[in-house]
Amino acid sequence: ALPYDLAGLRVLISAGGTREPLDPVRFLGNHSSGKQGYALGRAAAQRGAEVTIVAGTVSAAGDPAGVDIVGVGSAEQMATEMTKRAADADVVIMAAAVADFRPVSMADAKIKKGDQGPAPIELTTNPDILRGLVEARTEGRIAASTVIVGFAAETGDETGGVLDHGRAKFKRKGCDLLVVNAVGNGKAFGTEDNTGWLLSSGGEETALPPGSKTLMASRILDEIRTLVPDETEN
Ligand code: C5P
Repeated sequence: ALPYDLAGLRVLISAGGTREPLDPVRFLGNHSSGKQGYALGRAAAQRGAEVTIVAGTVSAAGDPAGVDIVGVGSAEQMATEMTKRAADADVVIMAAAVADFRPVSMADAKIKKGDQGPAPIELTTNPDILRGLVEARTEGRIAASTVIVGFAAETGDETGGVLDHGRAKFKRKGCDLLVVNAVGNGKAFGTEDNTGWLLSSGGEETALPPGSKTLMASRILDEIRTLVPDETEN
């Protein structure tokens, strides 16, 4: 049986990919399935939490019972919903695959093929929602006791391994816990199994052996539980 150790905690989770509109019928998107975010939401609700998932595009992520789902499209919409709701949350988890870039503007009408061949797509940078949430907490717009969790999907390359990239990202983002997922070679995106590390602000690094996203979710929630101050009352 699952522990009922998150009773009364308000948990806000972003999940899935974002759609960055190009014109009324087209978008730039990614292959995130939303499964890890949904697995977290399902497990947290089973452990007694009040869960809201801000969901971008998801596929086959299931429909977690007793969880509030708020659908969004673009990264900017996700930023708006997450920022607004974070003030009422004890735990905020950014499990979504947020697009780093979006088209500078959305065409009013469907872009035509034209005679000149394809027109270049001009991109601009999206807000970093996770960093924005950490900043809001620093500035007191979110309670200091709010636990903020990020994800990092990393591959090893000539500049370092998965863990090195994860450590660097953890410093940059300033969150309390970073879930580092090893990706590439068919790992993580859209698959059932995840593997990686949990990095927490105390400096602990916990290896996560390969396991289902459900098992990952329960390990992540165990770690989060230790980070929630005991005096949090709801
Ligand atoms: O920088 P990178 O995209 O690898 O960071 C991943 C983490 O940051 C995830 O938790 C993701 O949800 C979050 N993120 C965000 N806003 C962005 C890009 C990523 O909140 N624009």
